[in-house]
Amino acid sequence: MKFEKKAVIFDLDGVICFTDKYHYLAWKALADRLGIYFDEKINDRLRGVSRMASLEIILERATETYTPEQKEAFAEEKNNTYRDLLKNMSPADLTDEVKNTLIELRNRGYRLSIGSSSKNTKFILGQIGLGDFFDAIADGTDITRSKPDPEVFLCSAAKIGVDPADCAVVEDAKAGIQAAKAAGMTALALFGDAKDCGEEDYNLTSFADLLNIL
Ligand code: BG6
Ligand code: MG
Repeated sequence: MKFEKKAVIFDLDGVICFTDKYHYLAWKALADRLGIYFDEKINDRLRGVSRMASLEIILERATETYTPEQKEAFAEEKNNTYRDLLKNMSPADLTDEVKNTLIELRNRGYRLSIGSSSKNTKFILGQIGLGDFFDAIADGTDITRSKPDPEVFLCSAAKIGVDPADCAVVEDAKAGIQAAKAAGMTALALFGDAKDCGEEDYNLTSFADLLNIL
């Protein structure tokens, strides 16, 4: 199968790098402290979802109710744990497969941008040596509605000046696949709960599989 596209918009966490495991560890530390059950299956529901919406999903299993101020403090606590884990990231956390595929896509003339719900996007890209690589970045600081709303992908497409119909999105989140479809884009699933979710246009066998279909 081949897709005729002008641009590829990448999710960040769990697609460009494996920060999804750090999100999990940071939420797990908070959930354990609060005595709330949390596992990797519940964690799949947090993929692509904003920080506060993620917290609400975790608190579904809480026996106590918390005030908005307490919830703000919990979200900040999680983010501080997460940022401590991110500090240890370096260009070694960018795989050769991802790096070489991105370079080859650029050589083939594609516009390449990011569409992530994370407010830590620019920090992470800097850590892994991609701070200046993408043609545009749309992230959690640009939007008011997180995936499955299409806002972040429409914002990313607008920043690179490409029509949504000419964009392919690479996602590990089912919410991200739904966001891409709602934006009128082609949705490519890689890992996570995106894979075989039933709403994707294509399941990638690996990141480098992009070179076979684009
Ligand atoms: C997404 C992750 O990329 O960013 C979600 O898949 C996360 O799990 C969201 O909640 C927001 O991230 P951050 O870094 O702003 O807390
Ligand atoms: Mg993701």
